[in-house]
Amino acid sequence: MPLIDRRQFLASGLAAVAVWPLIGNVRAQQFDSDPFTLGVASGSPTAESVVLWTRLVFPAEAAINMADPFAPAPAPEYGPLDVAWEIAEDDAFTRSVQSGMAPAVPDFAHSVHVEVKGLQPERWYFYRFRCGNAESPVGRTRTAPAAEALPDRFNFAFASCQQYEQGYYSAYRDMAARDLDLVVHLGDYIYEKTYGANLVRRHGTGVPSLLYEYRDRYALYKSDPDLKAAHAAFPWLFVWDDHEVINNYAKDHSPDAPRPDVFLRQRAAAYQAWYEHMPVPPRAAPEFSSLAIYGLHGFGRLVDIALLDTRQYRSPMLTTHASLDTDERTFLGLDQERWLDGALKASSAKWTIIGQQTLLSERDTAAGPDTAYNLDGWDGYRSARARLLDSVAEAGTANPLIIGGDLHAFYAADVKRDFMEEEATTFATEFVSGSITSDGPSDESIATALAENPHLKYANGRDHGYALMHLTDKEARTEFVTVSDRKDPQATAKVEQSFVVLDGLPGVNRV
Ligand SMILES: [Fe+2]
Repeated sequence: MPLIDRRQFLASGLAAVAVWPLIGNVRAQQFDSDPFTLGVASGSPTAESVVLWTRLVFPAEAAINMADPFAPAPAPEYGPLDVAWEIAEDDAFTRSVQSGMAPAVPDFAHSVHVEVKGLQPERWYFYRFRCGNAESPVGRTRTAPAAEALPDRFNFAFASCQQYEQGYYSAYRDMAARDLDLVVHLGDYIYEKTYGANLVRRHGTGVPSLLYEYRDRYALYKSDPDLKAAHAAFPWLFVWDDHEVINNYAKDHSPDAPRPDVFLRQRAAAYQAWYEHMPVPPRAAPEFSSLAIYGLHGFGRLVDIALLDTRQYRSPMLTTHASLDTDERTFLGLDQERWLDGALKASSAKWTIIGQQTLLSERDTAAGPDTAYNLDGWDGYRSARARLLDSVAEAGTANPLIIGGDLHAFYAADVKRDFMEEEATTFATEFVSGSITSDGPSDESIATALAENPHLKYANGRDHGYALMHLTDKEARTEFVTVSDRKDPQATAKVEQSFVVLDGLPGVNRV
């Protein structure tokens, strides 16, 4: 079966194979099935570079031996492959800009990471891959504004928590059709296990702990057409949360895997699979005992986005509310804290966005005079939160905006230096996206959160979707986009609630 349908080929008016530039020796592979079913993606945009991604998959690799699920993964059918890539100014590839060859090797699950440099700032580009008789879909990406440029506007989406079994990715179908410069994913891109009831589709495999099992899980999630469309439409940035490895892990410790040496092997496998499936800059060596993913991403003088990793370096979770949080405890690790402090001091953008996994603001979850807190979040690491807020204050950050996910509920909050002090000045503004699909909290718990925490100005755990942020010189407008029904593959989406933060005036304003 030819992979490029001849009629389609002629109808499109594109002699696709013929216009590929003559580059190197793409091995004459004849694939029996399309190896590009996971689509294409791009990420880590700068003013002059972007990372292009794809992964070739073959049916034999995806097959799980049901008779013996503990049997080692079947040997890859293919050894190293050469993959041709091309980036152009137009989707017909008549104005080709660069092309080249990239290796796709079994050690990295035949993933391809190409960091294309020498591009123009603030420009749309189109890209594609080819290997043998197979050609990838076309992706679109965009470079960042130049460091000294002040763009009129910058629009991005942020999202988190996309449990595959609990819903369809209609939110991503809606996102893909919008006019965005960037998507930021704040974690829980995959889930390691089945949660909840009324599932609409199944993982079909058990809880991963080995490399090939994590690879299979990513391949399943990335086979979703709506998610593929959102990846093919914009460049993305990523940070992970816990479910990319295992629920509620902290550094080298997991509640479900008590031995750190055993758990760290599992964590390395999960980190490697994450790398293999994300459009992040290429790595030379398959060594994943640690993986630094935090960083600052600049978009001209308008916006800097600092993305944090609150999982890999954190102190162990407190086991009771009675145990004392001490200054020695850390949520980011001391290296990342120092790095963030320096990055904030060096930032002079109009808007400084701190992207982290969860809700930074305090949240008392107990109704009435009692107090209770989520010890897996910043409320279990108060001294670390105070240090982060000190860094923001000392840096003189002009307009700090915090974005997060994790809680499966939308929140908007006035961030205070001391949340117990109702009259304290609002110091930054926080927006947390609800989940793409993952089960939300009860109405009662949302009502309690609003009643107990006056700095929480909005909370919605019933809806699912994502958030948009539109930045200009004057204001940051946030929109919470919700889907009509996450269980309906044809669900529609709408802006449920909008907020504005004015330049120089931190705080949530509903509009
Ligand atoms: Fe989640």
